[in-house]
Amino acid sequence: MCTGRGAILGDPSPSTTKYLVTGACGQIGAELVPFLRAKVGKDNVIASDVKTSRSMLEGGPFAYLDVQDRDNMARLILENGVTHVVHLATLLSAVGERNPALALKVNIHGCQNVLELAAQHHLSVYAPSTIAVFGANTPRHATPDDTIMRPSTIYGITKVHQELLGQYYADRHGLDYRSIRYPGIISSKAAPGGGTTDYAVEIFHAALARGAYTCFLSGDAELPMMHMADCLDATYALMTAPREALTRTTYNVTALSFTPAQLAEAIARAVPGFAIDYRPDFRDDIARTWPASIDDSAARRDWGWRHRLGLDELVASMLNALRPQYEKAAAEKAAAAAAAKQQQQPVAAAA
Ligand SMILES: NC(=O)c1ccc[n+]([C@@H]2O[C@H](COP(=O)([O-])OP(=O)(O)OC[C@H]3O[C@@H](n4cnc5c(N)ncnc54)[C@H](O)[C@@H]3O)[C@@H](O)[C@H]2O)c1
Repeated sequence: MCTGRGAILGDPSPSTTKYLVTGACGQIGAELVPFLRAKVGKDNVIASDVKTSRSMLEGGPFAYLDVQDRDNMARLILENGVTHVVHLATLLSAVGERNPALALKVNIHGCQNVLELAAQHHLSVYAPSTIAVFGANTPRHATPDDTIMRPSTIYGITKVHQELLGQYYADRHGLDYRSIRYPGIISSKAAPGGGTTDYAVEIFHAALARGAYTCFLSGDAELPMMHMADCLDATYALMTAPREALTRTTYNVTALSFTPAQLAEAIARAVPGFAIDYRPDFRDDIARTWPASIDDSAARRDWGWRHRLGLDELVASMLNALRPQYEKAAAEKAAAAAAAKQQQQPVAAAA
């Protein structure tokens, strides 16, 4: 295990909140881990995954953990005095449809391992769910917390299992299990991990790189979305809310809903000439079964959830965060082209 600088590991003191984050190197974990470390100290957040990154290794304690390996998970929990598990390791919707057998193993067994060990060792669990738990016969607008949940993707099926099992452990074992059904999360740091809402991140990179984007959803595929800054705030607010204030284990949370065409229009206001065209694939069929908008009034009532970024703020934030890397790449390309031209000149003159 890489302990990072000055990590205090093996401290079993229950007065110290110590997080174990699974799937920490994905889109959410890449930002949630530094966010949590800023709140509780870097040594109190152990990041884990089956892959890693330089920033994850340098930022604090990191351990290799395949969530299917219950013994290794138990060892990490006991040896490090873990008090809270943040369970992010999941195969998302598009990846899950490409490999349903693996999605079943990782999502179902991973979740069972986390819940069983948490109940056994009296840990708290935060494990996000998703709007993918809903299906084609769920009400599509202002979808309530409690409604028909008959998803058509393997990802959605495993997340319904997670929600129900989390509730079961809370009821039967008094487990402090908390979950948010995230909408599509839009962020600039880590690439999305293969979901149906990934277009809403890809589009910003394409706008800055090429001024054009071919979208894998139809122009009118309206979905609930949220900027990562709001996602982090919501996550921490629920994780730290007094338990007596909570009336349920899993909450709907959203910020805004838009279609690819509406997002493209907002981007075109900031990137003149930006153009979008549409080539819908199987992910468009998945999007058609998900809600267009979400009712998150219980989260707003119970733990004071409020989102901050609307569509124009979200677009400005993404473009501001990504622009420097594309400007740098363009400057490097121009410098390389100028150098190549200069090298060719004497040859041309000699000829
Ligand atoms: N990103 C979104 O838009 C979104 C929307 C709704 C819900 N969620 C939920 O948020 C959580 C995190 O999602 P994300 O977007 O960061 O996903 P991601 O695909 O970007 O990251 C998942 C991480 O899990 C790791 N992983 C895969 N198999 C593993 C295994 N066997 N053991 C340990 N780690 C493994 C991967 O290496 C990856 O780093 C998931 O529960 C997901 O359902 C995300």
